[in-house]
Amino acid sequence: MDKAPLLQVSALCKSFGRRRQRTVALQGVDLAVGRGETLALAGASGSGKTTLARCLLRLIDPDSGAIQFDGIDLAGLSAGALRAIRPRVQMVFQDPMAAFNPRATVARIIEDPLRVHDLAPPAQRPAAVRDLLARVSLPVDIAERRAHEISGGQRQRVAIARAIATRPDLIVLDEPVSSLDVSIRAQILNLLMDIQDETGVSYLFISHDLAVVRAVARRVAVMEAGRIVESGEPSAVFAAPRARATLAMVQAVPQLRTATRA
Ligand SMILES: Nc1ncnc2c1ncn2[C@@H]1O[C@H](COP(=O)(O)OP(=O)(O)O)[C@@H](O)[C@H]1O
Ligand SMILES: [Mg+2]
Repeated sequence: MDKAPLLQVSALCKSFGRRRQRTVALQGVDLAVGRGETLALAGASGSGKTTLARCLLRLIDPDSGAIQFDGIDLAGLSAGALRAIRPRVQMVFQDPMAAFNPRATVARIIEDPLRVHDLAPPAQRPAAVRDLLARVSLPVDIAERRAHEISGGQRQRVAIARAIATRPDLIVLDEPVSSLDVSIRAQILNLLMDIQDETGVSYLFISHDLAVVRAVARRVAVMEAGRIVESGEPSAVFAAPRARATLAMVQAVPQLRTATRA
């Protein structure tokens, strides 16, 4: 087995704006995600989680620091070299509507990465879409519907189908179940874990929900003001929170406090 982590982020910094409008979003983030592993990334709103995700996808450029992905420095990659890596890192957002073309059919949304990265000739794409829909347990007839015509849970399944279309090594999930009902939430988490078991894909799973973190990850990193302030096994981290952000997560779950007191 290759011991080097799939993703290694070192001293990553990013700020927005200038002078008095300046916001320092990331101030020296270090983290690693192993192959086939899920690292949960937690932290309050505004702590820099989405900015980190966007830097990893190179949707925005970090100011400094290194992003090693499978031995390649993503932070310093040219546009051409980046194109070759892009299919290997995918993202799922909290609100897939914002990421989908509202006029596109589900089939079009799912085959988009295959088309953009030229991974399947046009004649093979309908079959690829059917396979991907089956993979996320959606009926084939959903392929001709549009994103606003299906439920929130179905939409997130479509987002997952699109993310796995390129057979990525890493999927960054930015609060993927935060806007879903609890019952639907569990189904989506189970789907994600099944996909990981089958494919060995790694997840960087952003969530501020303690129950979700415990369900999906064996390691959690907590962010506060652009830094990782605490990390470890979720059970250990939540049993004795050291950072303010971790304490806030524990206090947001009343039944857990009751359970630990019993
Ligand atoms: N494009 C942007 N322009 C200016 N400030 C931004 C931008 N994106 C994020 N920020 C700021 O960076 C900080 C971190 O934001 P974000 O990464 O979205 O946090 P989180 O995802 O943890 O809620 C916040 O103060 C936010 O206002
Ligand atoms: Mg965010």
